[in-house]
Amino acid sequence: MSRFFLFPILFTWVSHCYADSSEIGKEIYHENCATCHGREMQKPGLAFDLKKFPKNDFQRFQNSVLNGKGGGMPAWRSKLNEDDVQSLWQYVISGSEN
Ligand code: HEC
Repeated sequence: MSRFFLFPILFTWVSHCYADSSEIGKEIYHENCATCHGREMQKPGLAFDLKKFPKNDFQRFQNSVLNGKGGGMPAWRSKLNEDDVQSLWQYVISGSEN
């Protein structure tokens, strides 16, 4: 009998573990970044084109996201944690052109 209760719990747990972090990053991106950097990182307008961000420079990415940059890029330190930044990074490099 208890097996019927366990199954959905197990399923939720397993699918959570396998959730692709770039998918989570995509959600965070659409919630927080797309207004300036463009939907799907297309047509960023005046903001930085994230498709051109150097793929080997996570340090710079993390620093700019947490602390902001220039006059236009807000700091996200109070809103996003390290895992969020990691997921965002996975999303950004998945769409990178370099
Ligand atoms: C209010 C508009 C705005 C929002 C929202 C925004 N950005 Fe930016 N972002 C900018 C602008 C403008 C720049 C260019 C800053 C500069 O170089 O002076 C920029 C630059 C960047 C850069 C490049 C920094 C560098 O090292 O050159 C990264 C990476 C970045 N944004 C990531 C993000 C992420 C991730 C989010 C969502 C969490 C986000 N941005 C949300 C406006 C925005």
